[in-house]
Amino acid sequence: MSIWRVSGGKKLYGDIKIQGSKNAVLPIMAAAIITGCETELINCPRLSDVEAAMSILRYLGCKAERDGDTVYIDSRGMNRTDIPHDLMREMRSSVIFLGAILARAHKAELSYPGGCELGPRPIDLHLEALRSLGAEINEQGGSLTCRDNGLKGTGINLSFPSVGATENAMLAACGAEGETIITNAAREPDIVDLQVYLSKLGASVNGAGTSTVTISGFMPQKQVGHRVMTDRIASATALCCAATTGGSVTLKSVDPADFETVTSALENMGCDIERKSNSVRITVSNRLCSPKPVVTRPYPGFPTDAQPQLMAACLKAKGTSVFTENILDNRYRHVQELCRMGADISIVGRVAVVTGVEELLGAQVSATDLRGGAALVAAALGAKGETTIYDTGHIARGYEEFDKMLMSLGADIRYEA
Ligand code: EPU
Repeated sequence: MSIWRVSGGKKLYGDIKIQGSKNAVLPIMAAAIITGCETELINCPRLSDVEAAMSILRYLGCKAERDGDTVYIDSRGMNRTDIPHDLMREMRSSVIFLGAILARAHKAELSYPGGCELGPRPIDLHLEALRSLGAEINEQGGSLTCRDNGLKGTGINLSFPSVGATENAMLAACGAEGETIITNAAREPDIVDLQVYLSKLGASVNGAGTSTVTISGFMPQKQVGHRVMTDRIASATALCCAATTGGSVTLKSVDPADFETVTSALENMGCDIERKSNSVRITVSNRLCSPKPVVTRPYPGFPTDAQPQLMAACLKAKGTSVFTENILDNRYRHVQELCRMGADISIVGRVAVVTGVEELLGAQVSATDLRGGAALVAAALGAKGETTIYDTGHIARGYEEFDKMLMSLGADIRYEA
């Protein structure tokens, strides 16, 4: 188990470059098998979830190698259409390979990804979308056996703008004959990055970033190069860390529009924010105030993936901060850990109410999941004394060298062997 000791109270100062996006690169890595081709992905973050996707690619018979921040994928030798349970369970988003394998091979066998630490995460919308394209899917004993006799483009109306279902439908539609129109599609910037990659791969795809995405043809390409977009949640997390400690931090190579809801909430709390076309600077000199109520919603709403980190920034803010979590059932697991540090938080159903305290005190806490773990680190940076954080392995799923990035800004973090 990996354990960090964070000595709080150091203000953060400096410039940082934000990593490539986890949630953009994972579906792109799956898309790399739609046709036998070579893909070079630049700005690919070093994360355990990315390693898990590389293991799946290798199991399928593809090459997947890393050189620095570039991942090279050669899917020409793909020779399997199944993914075993031990690879599927490493990350929930492995289900995204289903649409891509079907598009390539017209049959697939995967184990059901099941729930995760964030609560039950059904895939009914993914399966419904793939069935409308003509896939026959058998769900038995925790596994999914799928085949099709040629996928056919169609209209797919998602009852909820699920990110994963939108991506899976886009990938499968690349292997379908005729036009597919996905309505009530997710609008996340990650979907736009997937569209850019799919276009380079040979797909005629339009509309990503809006609620209607159209896929209307595919002319396979042999070689594709793509630069993965910057991680908007890592950007939001860095801002929240600076908000808990005070100081002044500049995020480089970011698109401020991608995480504007988080930046606005921080501005509303009293942080001084300077936005430029590809950078954002946060400066915090005084005690912050609670923000307007924070309600998580699909993009362009406030992201659930930044809710725990913003909550950490609110713990010492003057007044009462109110959070409503609408996306994931179990996204308040960090709350009881934050309370060990002296935070005053009560939860009723989907609503969490934070009453600002004067001071947080170092404590022993456990990271329960990726974003909750990041929130504990943010809170610990702003606490008096030392916080021991257990199970920090969760953080490596989505943050590249999070500890080193914070230390480069002046944070005091040590490791326990
Ligand atoms: N849902 C269903 N049925 C489905 C699909 C989704 O009921 O078939 C429900 C889910 O249970 C959940 C909600 O819809 O309550 C949102 O799920 P969505 O499909 O939009 O999420 P996802 O694709 O599974 C991605 C991110 C998550 C992020 C969510 C919401 C990736 C790899 N993961 O998950 O990221 O929280 O969108 O924005 O893109 C994270 O990075 O920490 C993380 C969990």
